[in-house]
Amino acid sequence: MCGIVGFTGRHQAAPILLDGLSKLEYRGYDSAGLAVRDGENETEVIKAKGRLKVLMEKTNGGESVPGTCGIGHTRWATHGEPSEMNAHPHVSDDGNVVAVHNGIIENYQELKDKLLRKGYSFYSATDTEVAVKLVDYYYKKYGESPIEAVNHAMVRIRGSYALAMMFRDYPGEIYVARKDSPMILGVQDGESYIASDVPAILKYTRNVYYIGNMEMARVRMGEITFYNLDGDEIQKELKTVEWDAEAAEKAGFEHFMMKEIHEQPRAVSDTLNSVIKDGKIDLSEVGMDEEMIRSISRIYIVACGSAYHVGMAAQYVLEDLARIPVRVELASEFRYRNPILDKDGLAVIISQSGETADSLAALRECKTNGIRTLAIVNVIGSSIAREADNVFYTLAGPEISVATTKAYSTQLIASYVLALQFAKVRGQITEEQCDEYVKELQTIPDKISRIIDDKERLQWFASKQANAKDIFFIGRGIDYAISLEGSLKMKEISYIHSEAYAAGELKHGTISLIEDGTLVIGVLTQPKLYEKTVSNMVECKSRGAYLMGLTTFGNYNIEDTADFTVYIPKTDPHFATSLAVIPLQLLGYYVSVNKGLDVDKPRNLAKSVTVE
Ligand code: F6R
Repeated sequence: MCGIVGFTGRHQAAPILLDGLSKLEYRGYDSAGLAVRDGENETEVIKAKGRLKVLMEKTNGGESVPGTCGIGHTRWATHGEPSEMNAHPHVSDDGNVVAVHNGIIENYQELKDKLLRKGYSFYSATDTEVAVKLVDYYYKKYGESPIEAVNHAMVRIRGSYALAMMFRDYPGEIYVARKDSPMILGVQDGESYIASDVPAILKYTRNVYYIGNMEMARVRMGEITFYNLDGDEIQKELKTVEWDAEAAEKAGFEHFMMKEIHEQPRAVSDTLNSVIKDGKIDLSEVGMDEEMIRSISRIYIVACGSAYHVGMAAQYVLEDLARIPVRVELASEFRYRNPILDKDGLAVIISQSGETADSLAALRECKTNGIRTLAIVNVIGSSIAREADNVFYTLAGPEISVATTKAYSTQLIASYVLALQFAKVRGQITEEQCDEYVKELQTIPDKISRIIDDKERLQWFASKQANAKDIFFIGRGIDYAISLEGSLKMKEISYIHSEAYAAGELKHGTISLIEDGTLVIGVLTQPKLYEKTVSNMVECKSRGAYLMGLTTFGNYNIEDTADFTVYIPKTDPHFATSLAVIPLQLLGYYVSVNKGLDVDKPRNLAKSVTVE
């Protein structure tokens, strides 16, 4: 959730740290801070509440903090309110250790009590300050190297962390420890970089090491040494990151979200092309052969937020095409439910970041239960990607806007491909039918482009909704799954209360919320369910609702019922989510812009939820 950057080299550190943090601000933006060291001098720590620009102003773009080694942080508050005091970096009592942290230390109270008894005092309400002082305590107690001190602390800390630390006795060096929170380390031209996420250092290097769980690293100029929990040195392979630096820039768009909406045709076609060879599905890179697919008894899809909504849509498609039982679960519920898992089942974990704490824990729960795991993940080398038995990479590229768009669209594509392959291999559709479906999938990028090209109508409609109090999204079957995502897009960036309802459920309570002028958006992409949902829309209209209909070209009689209609190009109904979601993304975007809100960084949210 929080963002971490570190640098040690010949250049001035502060401008590099601030630049890196600006790429990570989407991970947390309550406060930010830097610790920079100039040679052997004392480390200087500067922090500011609020957005990164406050810190930039305070440090004159980094110029007022000289030094070639430093760490930086942008915070999403967990323990302690957003304030300058609680902002990172945190410092041990005598300034011996300075650190930034991402994650949550679960037993921080117990550790704090111990340190209080040892004479330490605390100035902030954070768990990070406890970690810093614990490391300092062990460093002094055993009088050994920083690696040993960190090692002792890691054994005592419960929870998750990515820690970057500087020690007074080791100028020009940064020490790193990791458990269940993302962290990468890069080297280039004799200089070294640390980041919690690739975009922060892409501009400087593409050569990175992935530090494993419960591992530590000593970072010096152009040289990084890794250690395991026993303190033994371990070897790591240098990997090349394929994302290009421009992918993490706005490229002339006002917001990342709009840029990413426009990138969907490309992201969808890249993802599709990665698994289609000569018009046929080829999952060899995913590592799923026909025998394995035949042996699977049922599928458990586990995810959070929008990725969970992909799972909801995928459930309908998989069950209908492949006739395999599918259960979709929220990762945060699944992990504490003591689930009964069939040993021949397949768990599909969907995650853009590959670091979502609950999804990662769910994956581990499945592995402990001995069932096969498949991850649909966007970030290469992320924890979920590394731990799953099989990985289907979505090729969305870096997604910066907190509200997901292109990653969601590529996850849908991955799930359709799986559904088709399962259906074909298990004899539910013929080879020819599968080919036809694949051909249809190949038309999706172009159809998405056509919807985006017609965005001005939605912009106009959105301008009328800025004062809405409540919005309801209704649909049946796949249209219900689309409604869930449409509603989330709306509420998370426009702060308008919205709910998605299975259209047939309205009468069981929710319809009492409909008042004069309440906007109800009916999603009608499924021919078999069209009339039923129209009836539910009419019921809302009779109670004063203002109706928007979202349907496929050709269903023009909807205009007799709806006050405003949005059409999407025709496609096979199984794949309609990929098209119907686009106008809903645009609607949420334009309402947010109309209200003057920060589209890319909605309040209280952060990209990549690495805490429970
Ligand atoms: C909403 C959104 C979130 C994420 C969720 C899971 O727009 O982006 O709901 O979908 O936090 O994140 P990942 O996919 O990284 O596991």
